[in-house]
Amino acid sequence: MFRIKTLNKISPAGLSALDKTRYTVSDSEENEDGILVRSADMQEYVFPDALRAIARAGAGTNNIPVARCSEAGIVVFNTPGANANAVKELAVCALIMASRNVAAGTKWIDAQIAGGGDIEAVVEKGKAQFVGPELMGKSLGVIGLGAIGVQVANIATKLGMTVYGYDPFLSVDAALSMSRLIHRAMDLETIYKNCDYITIHVPQNKETKGMINEDAIHMMKGGVRIINLARGGLVVEDDILAALERGKVAAYVTDFPTNKLSAGKNVTLIPHLGASTPESEENCAVMAAQELRDYLENGNIRNSVNLPTLQQEWSGTARLCVIHRNIPAMLSSITGVLSRENVNVENLTNKSKGEYAYTLVDIGSRVSDREVDAIRAIGGVLRVRYLTH
Ligand SMILES: NC(=O)c1ccc[n+]([C@@H]2O[C@H](COP(=O)([O-])OP(=O)(O)OC[C@H]3O[C@@H](n4cnc5c(N)ncnc54)[C@H](O)[C@@H]3O)[C@@H](O)[C@H]2O)c1
Repeated sequence: MFRIKTLNKISPAGLSALDKTRYTVSDSEENEDGILVRSADMQEYVFPDALRAIARAGAGTNNIPVARCSEAGIVVFNTPGANANAVKELAVCALIMASRNVAAGTKWIDAQIAGGGDIEAVVEKGKAQFVGPELMGKSLGVIGLGAIGVQVANIATKLGMTVYGYDPFLSVDAALSMSRLIHRAMDLETIYKNCDYITIHVPQNKETKGMINEDAIHMMKGGVRIINLARGGLVVEDDILAALERGKVAAYVTDFPTNKLSAGKNVTLIPHLGASTPESEENCAVMAAQELRDYLENGNIRNSVNLPTLQQEWSGTARLCVIHRNIPAMLSSITGVLSRENVNVENLTNKSKGEYAYTLVDIGSRVSDREVDAIRAIGGVLRVRYLTH
């Protein structure tokens, strides 16, 4: 039986991915094999000897001591893309809000009613100030074509928009799921010069922080409408507020409200609702549990932040899963132990990620603790697991 400790409440759909005949799951497991966590702070967590993997139901892993896990040979998983549909749907809402002044219109109604006015008497006259353009026939620039960006780009084509997408690091998965109708922009200038609407779906990092600034806005079309559901710091607040004031930017809709932005003209602030759907929480939990299960049962790694993606079909009677430093001669040392013991290697895959690497070795016969311990003793090896099929 594998023991899985939950450090937060995990959606029942996620827990049902862990077969009761093979897993005990609770918040009180001791010497657990795996941990399921959402936002609990694990920075000071004392790792029990059995702990092999931590799965975060969510994308960020700031609450997990990833470097310490790597040194202890503990795999840290996250669930990228599990909330992509939720954010995509909010992006459609934001595009419409950027156009049709729905938020300002409802605020106006609330104010009329709060002021004792007869809304039915004023609505037809009052609505003129909230007229806004349709999306159909307009151009949309999508910056960042990852899990969310691709879905936003695809659905925008269905709304009748001409879509340009920019992502210098486009993944194969993203390229395969992207509609053929999307024009791939080779630089940001193409997006800025051609698009009536721009939506950002990139991570915030050294390269992207403040990317929507005065210089970028200068290149954009007059009256551009900007959507930012990715991270507040991607947009320079002073620059967008100034551009909104002079009408260069017609609307800014963001999921990252600040007091400063609230004073801006044509700004719509959403209270960070991007991933706030029950389905998104459930998707994250299911994905986290499946990642944990595939690692514990098969040694396969997918969506880890500290180790490479590596999945291998079973081809022997036993499997050695070796987490080690990414240094020379590791493979020859591992296979050297096996050949000394006359053990045939059926299949071997090795991949690295930064300072660490992972090797899966399927072997044709079972081995004893002696061979496993000999691999464990190789300098640079951080964790060895021995699985039988
Ligand atoms: N509002 C919310 O609640 C919410 C929820 C989920 C994610 N997000 C944000 O949305 C972002 C995107 O999420 P995702 O799941 O699509 O991530 P992802 O990793 O699947 O996609 C990000 C994409 O951005 C691309 N990229 C990186 N740097 C770039 C650059 N300089 N120019 C253009 N493209 C660049 C990457 O190649 C990748 O394809 C996340 O980083 C996160 O900050 C917000």
